[in-house]
Amino acid sequence: MKKEHEILFTPFKIRDLEIKNRIVMTSMSGTALINKGQFNEGIKEYYIERAKNGVGLIVSGLSVAYDMFGRDYWVNDAKEAFDGPIRELVKDIHKEGAKFFMQIGAGLGRVVNLETGAKFEGANVAKVQFASSELPNVWDPSRIHREITVEEIHKITNALIEIALMAKDAGIDGVEIHAVHEGYLLDQFAITSMNRRTDEYGGCLENRLRFATDIVKGIKSACGKGFPVSMRYGVASKMKGFNQGALPGEDYLEFGRTLEESPAVARLLQEAGVDVLNADNGSYDSWYWAHPPVYMKPFCNVPECEYISDFVDIPVICAGRMEEPDTAAEIIRRGKITGVGIARQFLADPEYVKKLEQGKPETIRPCIACHNGCLGSLVMGKGVTCALRPKTLHEKEYAITPTKEKKKVMIIGGGIAGMEAARLSALRGHEVVLYEESDALGGVFIAAAAPAFKEADKKLIEWYKREMEHSGITIRLNTKADETSIKNEKTDVLIVACGSISKKIPISGIDREIVVNVKDELLSGCDENGNIVVIGGGLSGCEAAYELAQNGANVTVLEVQDRILDVPGLSMANSMMLKELMAYKNVEILTSTKILRINDSNVEIERNGKLSTIQADKVIIAAGYSPKKDFESIEMAAEIYTIGDAARVGNLMAVIKDAYDVALKI
Ligand SMILES: Cc1cc2nc3c(=O)[nH]c(=O)nc-3n(C[C@H](O)[C@H](O)[C@H](O)COP(=O)(O)O)c2cc1C
Ligand code: SF4
Repeated sequence: MKKEHEILFTPFKIRDLEIKNRIVMTSMSGTALINKGQFNEGIKEYYIERAKNGVGLIVSGLSVAYDMFGRDYWVNDAKEAFDGPIRELVKDIHKEGAKFFMQIGAGLGRVVNLETGAKFEGANVAKVQFASSELPNVWDPSRIHREITVEEIHKITNALIEIALMAKDAGIDGVEIHAVHEGYLLDQFAITSMNRRTDEYGGCLENRLRFATDIVKGIKSACGKGFPVSMRYGVASKMKGFNQGALPGEDYLEFGRTLEESPAVARLLQEAGVDVLNADNGSYDSWYWAHPPVYMKPFCNVPECEYISDFVDIPVICAGRMEEPDTAAEIIRRGKITGVGIARQFLADPEYVKKLEQGKPETIRPCIACHNGCLGSLVMGKGVTCALRPKTLHEKEYAITPTKEKKKVMIIGGGIAGMEAARLSALRGHEVVLYEESDALGGVFIAAAAPAFKEADKKLIEWYKREMEHSGITIRLNTKADETSIKNEKTDVLIVACGSISKKIPISGIDREIVVNVKDELLSGCDENGNIVVIGGGLSGCEAAYELAQNGANVTVLEVQDRILDVPGLSMANSMMLKELMAYKNVEILTSTKILRINDSNVEIERNGKLSTIQADKVIIAAGYSPKKDFESIEMAAEIYTIGDAARVGNLMAVIKDAYDVALKI
């Protein structure tokens, strides 16, 4: 391994439990051990693969006592699962040298998604529409949660103790309590502005923490002091009010847990028996701290986690875009944060730790913090996977098996879809040649990755280029494929991944000199002054608008629909932050706006039946893309497939899935 990363491979202790390195895979819902009281068979390979590849401590996906969507109480049915398959899974994980904690939760309270939850079979969301006090639901503030009763609190506490005991008996190394963080039920109790109770669970800090500390004490008393208990902990809530987050650098008054109160909270948790704080910041109201999107800088939660470590004697793990190893190692070296908490990177590349250990960080497929395949998918009630790696949690469905019949595969287009299809085809043993008419690999993604905040996207392009170089694929840049080349290549399988073209919109004045396409603007660095009008409030329009505003331009976004960022699959953590960032940078958003004409120095619009003009030194068209049809009529190979944007314009997740679907069947 690289010398500077050695510290990441030193052991640390949680109570008497030794963890072999500093890498902690933090919990992700959708990967719970138990589903309706039964072992969740689908997660077995997922955990074993990460353990095999060197993770020090794995924390399981969340299991909520009494179920997060009010389905039947499952704990009584779970004994068999703990005694059988869970015990076996833990043995397998231990064989690989990893330790394993189970994350167990008291519930969601006001952050439950009542609409999505209601869709689950057997759900009874009314049963869990409670909170510390009467509080508005975060997804739909018009729906008010009732105050949870003391009897319900006791039932949850006892259930969690019971689960912890079963976990311990099954050989699980510890439990993590979910969560005095992110605005979940226990956090709602802990935070003054969300707890107006007058009983023993409200008022002073000790009372507000009673629910959490009773759970910890109960587990310690049932499982023994030596059984490690972790607490998922949010150092500061970073919220200005309900559904109002506080952005990095923003001057604001904390509505949730303050940095001033946090040390006392952490100390009380430690006194109750918590052995490790698995920490970050944020709340659902400021989701981008606990679930940092691409717009959030890496290591965003480190300052507060380092701060809190000064007030406790137990280890502090910090999560939130912590995967870049040079900085992660430097943070551990500083000695305040003990463990590097990483989640999504393990969805994007299960071999993250192994590759670091082998001194090959450049081979790690980078997580691009898009949330499309993980959090976004989870919130929509679909399972968790990774946009860049559909195989994650679908190991059998997307197994990459050697081909029985080696074929000559020709790929037209060196964008992400083309490169992924090339990579997979080569991995399966086919002979692959890739034609790209421009001088670079990456396609439209080069422009998407251009803004300064898209470092991870740029890394992804580099990763693909490297994969192309090391997979024995022949790359022909600056070469437009045609019937002759398809024939000359003796092509058996032709995969057309030639991408998309910018949509033309019929606006008077569209050909004027002040008009540019968003792709060209992104590529040129969005470095403008003056008045810039962006036509189109989709993802590229808004990202360009934000980048332009950051660079000092005065930006207006015009959108014909009644909302911006209405993009399929876009996670709320990402859209929430981008919207707030644009507002923070004074980008004016005009929705339900019809564009009448572009003139030399302004744009004429109609909005709410009124005509007006907006000054414009430059107009950027971000009206989306449509498939490039250049190879539609080609019939020169035995098998022909069209994938990615060339088939239908989609996000990265869609085009990569297309590549898998084709490359795994040829
Ligand atoms: C799909 C998904 C589900 C998550 N579910 C949980 C959860 O149930 N419990 C929890 O404590 N954290 C959960 N998290 C948060 C992660 O553990 C982690 O703190 C967060 O993703 C930031 O780390 P990262 O940047 O390394 O992904 C989840 C994250 C994702 C992406
Ligand atoms: S879907 Fe996006 S954010 Fe989630 S793990 Fe994959 S690359 Fe990372």
